[in-house]
Amino acid sequence: MKEVKVHDKVFELYISAEKIQVRIDEIGKALSEEFRGRNPLFVSILNGSFVFTADIMRACDMDCEVSFVKLSSYQGTQTTGKIKTLIGLDMNIAGREVIILEDIVDTGNTLTHFLEILDTYDPKSVTLVSLLTKPEVLKDKVKVDQIGFEIPNKFVVGYGLDYDGLARNLKDIYQLKGG
Ligand code: IMP
Repeated sequence: MKEVKVHDKVFELYISAEKIQVRIDEIGKALSEEFRGRNPLFVSILNGSFVFTADIMRACDMDCEVSFVKLSSYQGTQTTGKIKTLIGLDMNIAGREVIILEDIVDTGNTLTHFLEILDTYDPKSVTLVSLLTKPEVLKDKVKVDQIGFEIPNKFVVGYGLDYDGLARNLKDIYQLKGG
């Protein structure tokens, strides 16, 4: 089994780059069928979603736009529970069809907080897309419309996801070994 060491922890290969791309193409196709002709606005939640966003957008065959917001709730491998908006929305989304792109929805705290903010801007519709979800932790808190992969409650890195800043550049997704 392929392993990587990130800071002090060892991670093992969990989802290969090839498997990720197959799911991305499926999601891109589904979104294009649903939103073609409606010029949706992708809202990508930084930092982790930048890789997913680039791939999803290129898997979409339709006119679409993108904007980025930056929220933060994690320190190390633990959620802090406190969400900070570090970079806010820079465009008018009133009446727009918004598709939120998340790398991972864990407790759902980040998304719940962001959805409340988004609502005040009066979008026409809001669709949630997340590459990964952890259903054991999320329960029914937030309804994610398109999910790449449902995974157990273990910390993962790679494909945009980090452990204290590192490992975002890995092409595959790795899971904390034994943890
Ligand atoms: P939530 O608020 O608990 O849903 O956490 C969402 C954010 O925490 C994600 O956008 C990630 O940035 C980060 N996060 C949650 N789980 C993981 C993980 O397993 N690996 C890396 N980052 C994670």
